[in-house]
Amino acid sequence: MSGDHETGAWSEHALPPKTLPFPEFIRQVADMDEGHGFRVGHVAQTIADLAGINTIDRATLKMAGELHDTGKLLIPNEILQAPRRLTADEKKTVQRHPLLGLAVTQWYDHDFTQDVLDTILMHHEHWDGTGYPLGLKGDSIPQLVRIVSLADTIDACASRRRYKAPWSVPRLQEYLHKESGRSFHPDLGRLCADKLPEIVSSMRTIPPAPTLRVG
Ligand SMILES: [Fe+2]
Ligand SMILES: [Fe+2]
Repeated sequence: MSGDHETGAWSEHALPPKTLPFPEFIRQVADMDEGHGFRVGHVAQTIADLAGINTIDRATLKMAGELHDTGKLLIPNEILQAPRRLTADEKKTVQRHPLLGLAVTQWYDHDFTQDVLDTILMHHEHWDGTGYPLGLKGDSIPQLVRIVSLADTIDACASRRRYKAPWSVPRLQEYLHKESGRSFHPDLGRLCADKLPEIVSSMRTIPPAPTLRVG
């Protein structure tokens, strides 16, 4: 399929019931991509700990990480689970998930916090303004979102996906250094690169066990 929504693709991926209890809603969202949300919530807290950031409540950070990809509930499984690189059209469809996530929060019967809404909308924004969907830049992206964004990248790169092997720690360190000041806050990106072995080993404690490679 092309990712063209004239096919009615959004309805192919079932949303949870509107009245689903909130903890169960979180579980369903965080469980997508083999527990990606759970690990992002955990890694986000680890990054804040390593950076000595005391101004952000850890439970808030955990929840923001767990719910950041809420919009993927509306992306068809055949795209999310494609065992190959995505086509340009399919990539465009996936890139709608931050805005679709806000739609889900409007639809689902729960009062989401501003931190969670910001994270859902902005976790693919880049420090240098080249991200999406809004092209926000620098400090206009809240610190909490910048942390989740780093945690998101670390888990996506360090985990096995259907279309790629897990990156090694040195490869991911190099990438984080290169993207510091581009995709990521310069200091925070560098800190994550330097502390990556600790971050990666902390991910092993999160069920379901991620398939990580160290070295
Ligand atoms: Fe995302
Ligand atoms: Fe993600």
